[in-house]
Amino acid sequence: MSTQPSVTRMEKIVSLCKRRGLIFQSSEIYGGLNGFWDYGPLGAELKRNVKELWWKSMTRLREDIVGLEATIIMHPDIWKASGHVDTFSDPMSTCRACKKLVRSDQVWDMLETVPWAETIRSLCPEGKADVDGLLKWAKNKGLRLVPDLALVKDPEGVLATLAKRSSEATSVQATFEILSTAAAEGPLSTPCPHCGGELTEPRPFNLMFKTYVGPAATEDDIAYLRPETAQAIFVQFKNVLETSRVKVPFGICQIGKAFRNEVTPRNFTFRSREFEQMELEFFIKPDEVIEAQHGKTASLSDGAASTDPQPNWGWEVWHMYWVEERFRWYDSIGLKRSSLEEYWQKPDELAHYARATVDILYKFPFGTQELEGIAARGNFDLSQHQKFSGKSMEYFDQEANVKYVPHVIEPSAGVDRLILALICEAYEEEEVTDDKGQKEVRTVLHFHPRVAPIKVGIFPLLKNRPELVQKAVEIRDLLRQHMNVFYDETGAIGRRYRRQDEAGTPFCVTVDFDSIGENGPELQDTVTLRHRDSMTQERVRIADLLPFLQSQIL
Ligand code: GAP
Repeated sequence: MSTQPSVTRMEKIVSLCKRRGLIFQSSEIYGGLNGFWDYGPLGAELKRNVKELWWKSMTRLREDIVGLEATIIMHPDIWKASGHVDTFSDPMSTCRACKKLVRSDQVWDMLETVPWAETIRSLCPEGKADVDGLLKWAKNKGLRLVPDLALVKDPEGVLATLAKRSSEATSVQATFEILSTAAAEGPLSTPCPHCGGELTEPRPFNLMFKTYVGPAATEDDIAYLRPETAQAIFVQFKNVLETSRVKVPFGICQIGKAFRNEVTPRNFTFRSREFEQMELEFFIKPDEVIEAQHGKTASLSDGAASTDPQPNWGWEVWHMYWVEERFRWYDSIGLKRSSLEEYWQKPDELAHYARATVDILYKFPFGTQELEGIAARGNFDLSQHQKFSGKSMEYFDQEANVKYVPHVIEPSAGVDRLILALICEAYEEEEVTDDKGQKEVRTVLHFHPRVAPIKVGIFPLLKNRPELVQKAVEIRDLLRQHMNVFYDETGAIGRRYRRQDEAGTPFCVTVDFDSIGENGPELQDTVTLRHRDSMTQERVRIADLLPFLQSQIL
């Protein structure tokens, strides 16, 4: 990874995404819509590849998982049973001055990234205020940048308060709060990151998008766009069980859109209002049933999670097994373990239904943040749906001769966050020397061939030589039955390579005069194969191209 400053790196990545058609702002010609993003031609291929690979690894390569594709709008009682109607909310504050809404728990993170706040922090090292500096800033730049900040509205008054309350100014944040508070006494304020104004007390804000089903549009017709794909799996549990030949332990997985009316969508696509999830609900026997059958459950200290699944695994081992499986899958698509972190949620961070949750984090340029959560959810969801629907969610276990509501392990990943992580991981600016000894910067996306939007670029050396063009077109037609290829005959060959480097294409094939036998029969029907990462070139037979490329992308 590059050592460029992170903001610059992120800005460059966002700009490349637009320039190369990976990600566009939704509704851009109308000024955009905050929290919504579209995938352009390259982005759509990348996303499709990632989803295909996840689906294949979950369903086709395993005996114990089946797929589901459910609707986005479901019966509204589902969200009462799951707890989303009552508890799926974020704390939100409104700025009394500019009226903007901010997520109360993210204000200080936001203040880390705004330049005016950086100035204040630099004028209060370790909480010790540079009073002259603050006064000067408040009367000049501050007035222009954040007119609603208490310090800017009344510099002398607020600095006098700071002197009086100096015992409270024990850190940069505490000093910052005093400088943001108009009153000389009483509770301190958190400043609005946008204008410095005073924020209201936090209020819960439900994140579900509401809509109406049918033309009457009364309160009784309210429905929700699903905020997660998981609940559909729970409510279809019995149908899947009765129609597929599955036995606990088994899983049901789904890929699909989810919607959350996030208070402050940010960090490009990282926190969006419309996004996609890839979720697996893996149903297991309750530990009591395992204990009754096998005497006790296998324990993690025996190294159980690193073997193939065993009948005596309880929830702890299954949970660990799925954490490891998910790390293995990320590695297989180019996100090495060294780029990821494993975070065990602390007891006070766990959702009320969760026994344990491990987050897989990626080191984004804007901070190390969650890509996927793997939660041990007990039997909370199935039990809730049993209670609210009145329909049994019990499973009759023939081996144990007992009925129970299965427990569940849930690996839940966000497709869009993963796409962003793959782009961030792949992005590199390299200084290279061209044939004439000139130094230049090569922008390259080092996508793993499995996820790369274009697998191979195919070029005739010259576009005005029909024999070269014809052979290149033949290769294109042969390969495109099996993978996404890009045919390009315009510009110097070096420029064509650079264009594919920026698109993350791992291989390029050039048809030259050797290929058409002009320099002897031994090289006829061979091409130059150029490798993106090493930029090395080798001569290969056209007949060997397809098997080689397939070995790289499957
Ligand atoms: N069923 C469990 C569940 O939905 P979550 O941690 O709320 O758990 C799972 O979401 C994953 O969905 C996250 O790890 C993240 O990758 C993705 N995700 C959640 N909210 C998102 C948002 N606003 N924008 C993009 N991705 C999001």
